[in-house]
Amino acid sequence: MTVDAVQPTTSEPSGLREPPPAGGGVPLLGHGWKLARDPLAFFEQLRDHGDVVRLRLGPKTVYAVTTPELTGAVALSPDYIIAGPLWESLESLLGKQGVATANGPLHRRQRRTIQPAFRLDAVPGYGPIMEEEAHALVERWRTAGTLDVTTESFRVAVRIAARCLMRGSYMDDRADRICADLATLFSGMYQRMVVPLGPLYRVPVPANREFNRALADLHLLVDEIVADRRASGQKPDDLLTALLEATDENGEPIGEQEIHDQVIAIVTPGSETVGSTLMSLLQVLTQHPELADRVRDEVKTVVGDRPVAFDDVRKLTYTANVVVETMRLYPAVWILTRRAVTDTALGGYRIPAGADIVYSPYAIQRDPRSFARHEEFDPDRWLPGGSEEVPRFAMSPFSVGNRKCPSDHFSMAELTLVTAALAAAFTFEEAPGSDSRPRIGITLRPRRLLLNPRPR
Ligand code: HEM
Repeated sequence: MTVDAVQPTTSEPSGLREPPPAGGGVPLLGHGWKLARDPLAFFEQLRDHGDVVRLRLGPKTVYAVTTPELTGAVALSPDYIIAGPLWESLESLLGKQGVATANGPLHRRQRRTIQPAFRLDAVPGYGPIMEEEAHALVERWRTAGTLDVTTESFRVAVRIAARCLMRGSYMDDRADRICADLATLFSGMYQRMVVPLGPLYRVPVPANREFNRALADLHLLVDEIVADRRASGQKPDDLLTALLEATDENGEPIGEQEIHDQVIAIVTPGSETVGSTLMSLLQVLTQHPELADRVRDEVKTVVGDRPVAFDDVRKLTYTANVVVETMRLYPAVWILTRRAVTDTALGGYRIPAGADIVYSPYAIQRDPRSFARHEEFDPDRWLPGGSEEVPRFAMSPFSVGNRKCPSDHFSMAELTLVTAALAAAFTFEEAPGSDSRPRIGITLRPRRLLLNPRPR
């Protein structure tokens, strides 16, 4: 038993209590070693210790929130900002001036700049590109042999985000670089988050050198994208033009650093999340061939023998429910953090100003108190009327509040279309060497999925 496991939960004059500790911390690393070793199981068992529990990550105390209601309260309250271990570990990638990391008035201005590109009524405008990419993927896989699904999923995610939002063909040869860089960065950053040993990550051992190389390359890539667009002299009606033409609150053009951080803040989450979710979807289709058949049947009923089109997406309800259920059980964004900016209260517990908050959509979305048959993959639970019992905020893979993902409609349309196209064309078998265990970095996805596609 560790010291913090025997500390009492104290009650204060305000009536607010100190959150109970999560047992099992070790000297120096605290709970970091558990978060490094088996983070999914660790977060899932935290709910047994309380609604809010205290963790130690290295020298820091961090508060973990374990109920849907309180994660919603955190996401919606102005008492918390984007900060904390997750965002600190991402800072070398995302900078401080992009929409994903900025706070306050800067964040509000940036959301106003990017929001039009993601509005529900803007998404059909991306339909032709999404269709083209989905069908190109099917054609490519007809003759591809064994697929390295990591590369394939990230490639299509990068291509769709870049072609839709930055209207460039310049991504063709850069997509692979982005994927490789992000894979290195997102696992390295997770390690830096849970085992924050600052200066040790500057020691020039191979892992740190590889991390720094990937980071430098991704920043270079973004500079190339911006330079290419400027050199082209073109100003298509897209997100990149909106970013390049954005002005600050005084009507002055925004600075180069902000443009750079903004492009990173779009390309990075846009490819990592969709790529990871598509990997999980393909794993689901492989492990549950009966579900894949139902998706194929739905596509056949709705579409007939022509290729699936963007306009079909709203009728592909079963396919969409497979996407949603995949996001419930395998949420790409499986961990989120915030920081309290004032002394505040959460569920009757005292949260001091400056405290870091952490919560896991993975654990929340697998809570047996929220979902019957919580570990069962059941797309039909999302049929109309079927999800009425699900508590508020228990299923929020795109988050809620002012930091909610701007790309929820875009991503759902993209993932539903690609899933429909692939399931209609192929069945899948895992190839030797495939490893579908979860790979946990900043995002969650299968470790190394190798699939053989068999044309239907
Ligand atoms: C924010 C999930 C796709 C751009 C977020 C957040 C979540 C999320 C949970 C909120 C983070 C927080 O509360 O701290 C997802 C999932 C996706 C997806 C599950 C796909 C399956 C995309 C795509 C793009 C994108 C395709 C862009 C092309 C962003 C941006 C933010 C964000 C810019 C920051 C918003 C802000 O802080 O105001 N995403 N995302 N996401 N996402 Fe997504």
